[in-house]
Amino acid sequence: MTYRNFLSLTDAGADGIAAMLADAIDRKAARKGWPKARLDVDAPLAGRVLAMVFEKNSTRTRVSFDLAIRQLGGVPIILDAGTSQLGRGESVADTARVLSGYCDAIMVRTDDHAKLLEMGHYASVPVINGLTDDSHPCQIMADLQTIVESGKSLPGLKVAWLGDGNNVLASIIEAAGLMQFDVVAACPQGFAPSDAMVAAGQGRAKVVGNAAEAVAGADIVVTDTWISMGQDHAETKLAAMWPFQVNEGLMAQAKPDAKFLHCLPAHRGEEATDAVLDGPQSLIWAEAENRLHAQKAVLRWCFGQIG
Ligand code: CP
Ligand code: NVA
Repeated sequence: MTYRNFLSLTDAGADGIAAMLADAIDRKAARKGWPKARLDVDAPLAGRVLAMVFEKNSTRTRVSFDLAIRQLGGVPIILDAGTSQLGRGESVADTARVLSGYCDAIMVRTDDHAKLLEMGHYASVPVINGLTDDSHPCQIMADLQTIVESGKSLPGLKVAWLGDGNNVLASIIEAAGLMQFDVVAACPQGFAPSDAMVAAGQGRAKVVGNAAEAVAGADIVVTDTWISMGQDHAETKLAAMWPFQVNEGLMAQAKPDAKFLHCLPAHRGEEATDAVLDGPQSLIWAEAENRLHAQKAVLRWCFGQIG
């Protein structure tokens, strides 16, 4: 069986990402208005089993991958760390080898990027990054799809990021380098992305300390929770973040046709106000739905069907 891991956007490269975006957009259009559980006409992953391993909470990733494999003709199996032997200390390497005997692909959401890499090393089936402390490439596939569907083309876009220099920003920066758009991240001191994260943007990313500077002339404005899963709810961090809140005043400083993205879940009234989240520039519901369509393309890419 041909298989490829999707541990990072770089695994797919610009050509792979472009192929996945085209596939996601086409397949979404082809089944518009259909019942959600109806199989795609070609059922290209018929008979395949996707295991999903969750060490952290999830709504979108869990539901979208579950439905994605079903629409493609396959079957999902979910393992929560708390109710599997992983939670009792069985090694990732042994789990990878066991799951490879039952399943055709493994999606992993883990608190430790090293565990994802270990799963990728020991599994003999495709392994997909469903979020780690370092990155969230599946989310960014949905974000790129949402941007393209809004009528914008990726090369040359200015994307403004506000707030925490976290895992989602890391994957946006990686995408910028691959797909030739620019990212300006406004982050408080002490919460900026690392030099290595910025370098992954191949010169397309820069960090500033001022929210207005980031959004000036921006085509896309993006933020995320100030406190990611597994992080302390440090009052000092929250206090530092308030000047980076995305509110109507800040959105007004971006381009008039700028769009707003947020991977969700949102902490309404913190990183973004209700007026922005629910406002006319917000694409957050399309972005969330696109997790399904993007994940289908990721699965097909992993099996060598596209790209
Ligand atoms: N955006 C995202 O990954 O959401 P979940 O944590 O609900 O999966
Ligand atoms: N940065 C967030 C993303 C959640 C989808 C987290 O890691 O909790």
